Amino acid sequence: MPDKKKHSIHTIQKMKENGEKVAWLTAYDYPTAAFAEAADLDMLLVGDSLGMCVYGYEGTIPVTMDQCIVHCEAVRRAAPNTFVMGDMPFMSYQVSDEAAVVNAGRFMKEAGVDALKLEGGKRIISRIKAILDAGIVVCGHIGLTPQSSGQLGGHKAQGRTVASARALIEDAMAIEDAGAQMLLLEAVPPEVAGFIARKLTIPVFGIGAGPETDGQLIIVSDLIGQFQAFTPKFVKKYANVAQVITDAMTAYVSEVRGGVFPADEHCYHMLKDEIGNLPALMQEFE
Ligand code: KIV
Repeated sequence: MPDKKKHSIHTIQKMKENGEKVAWLTAYDYPTAAFAEAADLDMLLVGDSLGMCVYGYEGTIPVTMDQCIVHCEAVRRAAPNTFVMGDMPFMSYQVSDEAAVVNAGRFMKEAGVDALKLEGGKRIISRIKAILDAGIVVCGHIGLTPQSSGQLGGHKAQGRTVASARALIEDAMAIEDAGAQMLLLEAVPPEVAGFIARKLTIPVFGIGAGPETDGQLIIVSDLIGQFQAFTPKFVKKYANVAQVITDAMTAYVSEVRGGVFPADEHCYHMLKDEIGNLPALMQEFE
């Protein structure tokens, strides 16, 4: 989309103020990010969900900084006019403020992302502040935080009791107070998510957090029907590319085995004024 105008943190903030919903999607590779730019997505997240969606890991824990950087670079190249967010993988920010800033800096310098997301509430406030102090736009992520799903007892929705909702609201307010410019709520009841979105002045997005947030995020591999291992309750599949791809591959196998492919139109024939010399050439090698 050559005439697409890339968002900044200010235009995204303005969308919240104007009551316009932000459409946000994950992307991990060049072709998908190019489709996303053509489809006029407001933002892209190169999520550490690439661990499951691209590499076939069971979760996000094994994902490395180097993997995240490579995928961010590809997405950046394909979507120069879309706001691209990197996702700090497990152990890239948990150890110290210094390590968090060094790794955040790699995303900026090597991949040219526009913002970074990291998981956690009050307990990572010093990390958020350190990255903000380096001049980087930060998005908080609370609710179901897959990197600490072990402590949550699995991939479970959060904020379904008053005590848990209170903890989420306190985390959200602490993240805004720290200076983060955006917040993502994952797997949170709509009534809690809506309250947080209204309470905070920064844009609050949801994935599995109902319709009352300032925008929606969804994993592209779920949206297009590519990811097969499991489907969370909050996913809506807009296509079934798994079926389309499998059908295409099955047809290819059948045509190769049946001698149907390649046909004449798929061949590079010798040049017309050269082909007459072929018998002589072949004779040389008899
Ligand atoms: O990695 C990711 O795609 C995410 C979303 C699940 C929120 O963090």
